[in-house]
Amino acid sequence: MLISQQLLERPMAGGRPFALTALRHPTVSTLLADHRVLLADLLHGLGSPLHIVLPEIFEENVVRLRRAFADAGVTADILFAKKANKADCYVASAASLGLGVDVAGAPELVKALAGGVPGHRIGISGPEKDDALHALAVQHGCLVAVDSISELRRLAATARLAGRQVSVLLRSRTVGQPGSRFGMSAAEREAAVGLCAELADSMSLRGFSFHLNGYSTAERATAANEMIEHCLDARQRGLLAADLVNIGGGLPVCYVEPRLWDAFLAQDQPAHYHAAKDFKDFYPYGGQSATQAIRAIMAHPVDGDEGLAAKAGRHGVRFVVEPGRALLDQAGFTLYGVQQVDDRRDTDGYAIVTVAGSSFSLSEQWFSSDYLPDPLLISAQPTADELFPACVAGSTCLESDMVTWRKIGFPRPVRRGDHLVYLNTAGYQMDSNESPFHDAALPMKAVIRLGEGEAPPRWRLDGI
Ligand SMILES: Cc1ncc(COP(=O)(O)O)c(C=O)c1O
Repeated sequence: MLISQQLLERPMAGGRPFALTALRHPTVSTLLADHRVLLADLLHGLGSPLHIVLPEIFEENVVRLRRAFADAGVTADILFAKKANKADCYVASAASLGLGVDVAGAPELVKALAGGVPGHRIGISGPEKDDALHALAVQHGCLVAVDSISELRRLAATARLAGRQVSVLLRSRTVGQPGSRFGMSAAEREAAVGLCAELADSMSLRGFSFHLNGYSTAERATAANEMIEHCLDARQRGLLAADLVNIGGGLPVCYVEPRLWDAFLAQDQPAHYHAAKDFKDFYPYGGQSATQAIRAIMAHPVDGDEGLAAKAGRHGVRFVVEPGRALLDQAGFTLYGVQQVDDRRDTDGYAIVTVAGSSFSLSEQWFSSDYLPDPLLISAQPTADELFPACVAGSTCLESDMVTWRKIGFPRPVRRGDHLVYLNTAGYQMDSNESPFHDAALPMKAVIRLGEGEAPPRWRLDGI
């Protein structure tokens, strides 16, 4: 059960910053409430920013998603999309739970294998993979999503050379997003299916996958239905093993209460951001949860009244799903130390808090967007409550290095030596855009597991 520690609050006249409180898993609340000294010591010892990763919550998410698919009446192979976080601890959790992993390239594949995930549970989805990656995939019996005829021919040649048969999905463009740079057009798919029949000694066509931008459950269900039809068509052409439909990732995560999110959007305007920044698009921070999305996708009517799950079941089609963000929901947060505060309240109405580290450790900032859930302030010294509007800057020489463009209504003045906590950052935020700019060391990740009963939490560096 996630806890929001805030009631709906509308901004006051005069531009009081809107409080967009992040939802918090009870484990995160416990760590922040009862183990501040540990967190402060880790930040002091390991450097700012510091990512805290929480594999127990990842494991809970696995159980929840598996249950959601079972409740929807479908068999789904869940592959954790590793690109969403580089920490090894999540792969270890995946291996221990018998979960698969989706990888985009050779380094991720090597990490997944080294983490104990068997090759037959690994899907390879990167576009136009090179021959070395193909060879590894063939050797380890991975499921390879193929993007083009030329890739299909190269992969078949590699498999033939190794004397093996490789399992493939054909990634196909959907009717709804025909302009995607990923996947085959209808004509290419037709030809690829024919080629799979010809190359049956070296490859087994297992089904179809697609890439979709966005979080529309109706669009994902419609695309999945197209892939079911492609499976049926392939079977008619003698490719009887075509029984998999990969519905991709894109299961949403809810970071803030939906009503709060709607209220936020209704009042949002450039004046609420540093430099009057005019953002056009945000992640849907207060949208559906992953389990709601699974229910909606699987129940979506695709053939008359028949839902997607029922149609798949009728045709013996199994789903593959590659969630990254959704499996990492609440499974980590990021601590920054405050390095300096430029109090411009008298002139500009808000302060600029500079943290040790940069916005490269909060990836959303590099997608023309802002990571909107409010950071929490942990004050080093007790101070009286007083609304303190401030945005947050990184300590690089880039004008655009803003960790939070939005003016946050901190409950107390922020001081040098305080800590800021960015919640729910494990999904993509931590490391997908990390950079050693200015020769900075890449931020460390500390894995924490809460102890049983009265036992204290245990921590270790990730990767050790
Ligand atoms: C092929 C593929 N699978 C899975 C994912 C994971 O998506 P998400 O983290 O939104 O679940 C992505 C994201 O880019 C992807 O490209």
